[in-house]
Amino acid sequence: MRVVMIGSGYVGLVSGACLADFGHRVICVDKSPDKIDALERGEVPIFEPGLEQIIAQNTTAGRLGFSLDLPRAVADADVVFIAVGTPSRRGDGHADLSYVYAAAREIAAAVTGFTVVVTKSTVPVGTGDEIERIFRDEFPEKDIVVVSNPEFLREGAAITDFKRPDRIVIGTDDERAIDIMREVYRPLYLNEAPLYFCERRTSELIKYAANAFLAMKITFINEIADLCEQLGADVQKVAKGIGMDKRIGDKFLHAGPGYGGSCFPKDTLALVKTAQDHNSPLRLIETTVAINDNRKRAMGRKVIAACGGAVRGKKVALLGLTFKPNTDDMRDAPSITIVQALLDAGADVHVFDPEGMEAAKSVLGPVTYGDSPYAIVDGAEAVVVVTEWEEFRALDFRELKARMAKPVIVDLRNIYKPEEMVKYGFSHFPIGKRITKA
Ligand code: UDX
Repeated sequence: MRVVMIGSGYVGLVSGACLADFGHRVICVDKSPDKIDALERGEVPIFEPGLEQIIAQNTTAGRLGFSLDLPRAVADADVVFIAVGTPSRRGDGHADLSYVYAAAREIAAAVTGFTVVVTKSTVPVGTGDEIERIFRDEFPEKDIVVVSNPEFLREGAAITDFKRPDRIVIGTDDERAIDIMREVYRPLYLNEAPLYFCERRTSELIKYAANAFLAMKITFINEIADLCEQLGADVQKVAKGIGMDKRIGDKFLHAGPGYGGSCFPKDTLALVKTAQDHNSPLRLIETTVAINDNRKRAMGRKVIAACGGAVRGKKVALLGLTFKPNTDDMRDAPSITIVQALLDAGADVHVFDPEGMEAAKSVLGPVTYGDSPYAIVDGAEAVVVVTEWEEFRALDFRELKARMAKPVIVDLRNIYKPEEMVKYGFSHFPIGKRITKA
């Protein structure tokens, strides 16, 4: 199969590299000369475990290439994936589809024979219909079928998610397109990953509904965590106890500072807007969005409370800034709001993140960056775990305590055992569990 990926961002690169790894010939296209130059030199612009290696192997094998020249790349492709950004539109929260439609027009102008055009970007329901209308009205001589094939990759685990998916959703009822999509994913369904075919609109909605449900699940356990704190119950044990029920499942029940990232905040908002526009409001998701927004600021207040009710002039050290571990992504990270709340309250904020500090510099206010957890805690009145990077799990707590002004740990990801923290002489402020004072 000759596959072209339009947009060499996160989704495009991971999908392109993995499809090349299956044996297809893949060209990843992007409009940014800097990005394409870097990729051709073997430099991968994003941090994703395993991606650099898979790109290197497949480039060397001649199956994966990069190009600025969209018309040339797509001219004789079998399948063209659109994997460009769909950011939230300023002002109204709808998904901004200008990049998607621009890419669709460029593709249609350039293709020669029968081509399947696949939307991989998360697009609102009906986008496939609109692309099809553009093709029909503006390029009536072209033989193109539009298919929806949403991605469910998680940052930090994207390669495994691509190669071992729970399912592959493909929205089309065109027989020729079904055959081509089967061929694209043949290596996976040999691996027994189910290919789930449905109509295009249904497929588009599956992506939003899945993300909204997961966002709601996280928000549910976050609210239960708040209740646990009031009742003296333990949210981790509640999560385990309810998760053993197969109807509920034990995944996505980790209470924390609220969800962030490039998908959940944007997609829940876009779904809420679509539902309102169609007179079918999704009140559960509207509430989820509101609760999650408030929660981030509330985490700032939780830190201030752990510092005795005031942080003016006090040093507070934050471990982890990215919206989750194993990524350098700061988009909608809870740390942004938490840092702002602490700065507003007059704290002297020092931060460390293993991969996210470069990206953080453009979104955080005036904070001090350090190059290790120990480098930021001298004289601190509290350490706050915001992101659960593995390397924070086994810190040298004796050294940490010796450096700090007060031995206080605010554990927003519940990575430490309260009894151990107390043993090391820390006061421990977890999420949804009893506070233990040193
Ligand atoms: C998500 C979806 O999982 C993926 O299927 C979709 O394609 C894109 O959006 P991603 O944004 O990479 O992936 O991260 P994910 O691991 O889902 O975490 C999202 C946010 O929820 C993070 O901020 C994470 O910390 C938070 N989270 C997740 C929790 O707070 N608790 C949980 O139990 C799980």
